[in-house]
Amino acid sequence: YPEVGGDLVNIVVSEEQIRQRLSEMAAEIDTDYAGEEILLVGVLKGAAMVMSDLMRHLRSDVSMDWMAVSSYGAGTKSSGVVRILKDLDTDLTGKHVLIVEDIIDSGLTLSWLIENLRSRGPASVEIATLLRKPEAAKVEVDVRYLGFDIANEFVVGYGLDYAERYRQLPFVAVLAPHVYGG
Ligand code: PRP
Ligand code: MN
Ligand code: MG
Repeated sequence: YPEVGGDLVNIVVSEEQIRQRLSEMAAEIDTDYAGEEILLVGVLKGAAMVMSDLMRHLRSDVSMDWMAVSSYGAGTKSSGVVRILKDLDTDLTGKHVLIVEDIIDSGLTLSWLIENLRSRGPASVEIATLLRKPEAAKVEVDVRYLGFDIANEFVVGYGLDYAERYRQLPFVAVLAPHVYGG
């Protein structure tokens, strides 16, 4: 199992910090969308843990859908090439859409996705992300609900992978360079 001192250098956001922050974000969301239905759109696969943990705190009337959009492949750097691997099942017309993400890195995935979803006639489109790397931004993305800004290091866990591994960690940690040949 990945441990600090082995594949991991240090823990950046702990399990307790994530739990606490997601409950605060959920309270903000409930206040902002009072009386409205929300369609949560998770971005596979990284957002799987954020989605399940965020939504269990929500009191609002929510439904859930998923898109798979990949820009990373197996490497550690964003290619900037966004591909839809799985589209939504839901018609967005008139819906309040809240995109749920694990991390904004370059911003390329979300800036593309938000324009794509806005073109489908929703009532609104906003973003909730657990993590953001301000130093890695190539495009600015307007985030409504943010968990934590983190340094520009390669992190894994809590849904974030390296070559599909490490997603199951309940915390976010810096991956040791020896793992990816850095
Ligand atoms: C990762 C992450 C975000 C995106 C952020 O997904 O989960 O979705 O990259 O990067 P960006 O801001 O530079 O576009 P990835 O493409 O690795 O797919 P995954 O969620 O299946 O791991
Ligand atoms: Mn992702
Ligand atoms: Mg990935």
